[in-house]
Amino acid sequence: MSGGERIPGTPRYRHHLQKNPGTEPFFPNFLLKEWIVGAVFLLGFMLWVVFNPVTLGDRANPDDTSFIPVPDWYFLFLYQILKYYPGPDIVFGTVLVPFIGTCLLIFVPWLDTSKDRHPYKRPLATLGMVLTTFLVIWLTNEAAVQHRAEVASASGQPSAGLPVLPRKDPSQIQFIDTSDPGYKLFEQTCANCHGAKGQGNIGPAIYAIGKYWDASKLEDFIQHPAGAMPPMGTLSNLTQVKEVASWLAKQKG
Ligand code: HEC
Repeated sequence: MSGGERIPGTPRYRHHLQKNPGTEPFFPNFLLKEWIVGAVFLLGFMLWVVFNPVTLGDRANPDDTSFIPVPDWYFLFLYQILKYYPGPDIVFGTVLVPFIGTCLLIFVPWLDTSKDRHPYKRPLATLGMVLTTFLVIWLTNEAAVQHRAEVASASGQPSAGLPVLPRKDPSQIQFIDTSDPGYKLFEQTCANCHGAKGQGNIGPAIYAIGKYWDASKLEDFIQHPAGAMPPMGTLSNLTQVKEVASWLAKQKG
């Protein structure tokens, strides 16, 4: 084998084609194409990385017990699979599912022996790829959404759609009308989760919720709250709910 066999247009190359119609030499012809595609991809990737540098996250803090660890985004789909196998079933998620997936990937050359290259002529392989891609994207998104919700609930941020009050130091908050019976009820119940000054604790900050919601909206929410807030906010009757709501509606920060 000398060079001529591999250079398109040379007599030796035509001879190769005659001997092996419909083929091209693996080296260097086929590999060269692969390398060029690889090099173009690498160049694009390097430019992307140079112009979108990844900054480091927060410094590790062993005292922060509210920190919820989560893998980097490209492992999120695997991480999400684990959640569907709680308790002792976890071996399915950690070992069995990834093992079967890896085996399938390794044996693809033997499972998919079709010589056709057009996606429509390889329905099984195409379907498998589309499904896998869809699953990975969906699982990644699911993990990201759930993680964001977990972080939000751990940091006392309300769920999407509810008003978000800026963080404020409790000493900066002035309640009005603290002689109102609603305030006593607030101190006894709501303050456990929302902080003595409504600055937020397990529940979000509500010190100036009156800016966003009036008394009737508050009554409604307290009776049918969202997320992790218990119904009635642990108050025992509707009269109390009305009292707290009317007092809270006056707090506009
Ligand atoms: C066991 C803890 C707990 C108690 C007790 C509690 N809440 Fe909540 N509250 C929460 C949580 C958690 C949320 C966030 C809900 C969400 O994110 O969907 C919340 C949300 C709210 C919101 C919406 C806040 C916003 O900024 O969007 C209001 C208003 C509210 N609570 C009022 C009250 C009142 C009034 C009481 C007392 C009657 C009370 N809560 C008692 C945990 C509590």
